Amino acid sequence: MKMLTPTPEAVAEAAMAIRNGDLVVMPTETVYGLAADALNAEAIARLYAAKGRPTENPLIVHVGSTDQLALVASEVPALALRLAERFWPGPLTLVVPKHPDLPSQVTGGLDTVAVRMPDHGVALALIALSGTPIAAPSANRYMQLSPTRIDHIDPQIAEVAVVGLDGGPCSVGVESTVLDLTCDPPRLLRPGGVSRGDLQAALGAPLAGAPGNGPKRSPGMASRHYAPASSLVIVVRLQPNQVGLCLHESAGKHQFRMPSDPAAYAANLYGALHALDGTAPTLFVEAPPEGAEWEAVWDRLRRASTAQ
Ligand code: TXA
Ligand code: MG
Repeated sequence: MKMLTPTPEAVAEAAMAIRNGDLVVMPTETVYGLAADALNAEAIARLYAAKGRPTENPLIVHVGSTDQLALVASEVPALALRLAERFWPGPLTLVVPKHPDLPSQVTGGLDTVAVRMPDHGVALALIALSGTPIAAPSANRYMQLSPTRIDHIDPQIAEVAVVGLDGGPCSVGVESTVLDLTCDPPRLLRPGGVSRGDLQAALGAPLAGAPGNGPKRSPGMASRHYAPASSLVIVVRLQPNQVGLCLHESAGKHQFRMPSDPAAYAANLYGALHALDGTAPTLFVEAPPEGAEWEAVWDRLRRASTAQ
């Protein structure tokens, strides 16, 4: 992988790679993505192989405008437009009926497609210059931690990606919220960068999918996911000899003190786990508060701590 500062020339080079059917590591506001031309079935096959991801786990398609939705969706529900207007560009992925011309590999054979418009200038420039919607899962190997900085990229991914654009640390730090609009009421499939509360306020009604219950029908949402190599255990309070993440005064030298604000905590979570991963057989994490605004953080911690 040629690692590049995202100058206009570098983004043009990455866009050329996308048009050639190659893979590019792309920064977004949530996590780094492994990007490929969503309309090129061979590029999509290469993408699944690079991640070691089962081909029935559908990908998220990234668009550069609301107009581009019509290229990947067979029908754009009025609600999708309303939510796009309110939350795009941003960390909200909408599941809508799939366009017949979109290769079925992208959606793992489903008749729906997950779409979002990322809130990152480099990603938007790359989509615009490539002239095609971009499929991008998180740029990690299957079941491993998502990257929130370019130096988190796994060597096996770096080997197959042609270009990596260094957009600095991701500001949101956890993946997008996935919302299924093919059912009524819409169902929250994955908590993420946009909170359940913000969605409910925009919709004026509660969502299906109870908090903490996990996704009901999002293929590829294995219960163990986002997992570090060390095992992870959630505790009330860290002991001085334990390696991990705390919310209170840190007592040990291998303890990261995490922010008490949920958005700042999320922005730092994967970076802290990447830094500590492998330094001890078990990492300990102090339980964050239970409030609704902690839903995405709790979701990632629960998945990372599910026994193998
Ligand atoms: O923040 C993000 O969304 C990042 C950045 C790179 O944009 N991408 C990301 O992609 O997290 P990935 O592939 O790691 O996660 C895709 C999620 C999975 O949970 C998958 O089950 C769900 O989206 N998904 C994709 N297509 C779907 C569909 N048609 N129906 C239901 N869930 C879908
Ligand atoms: Mg992922």
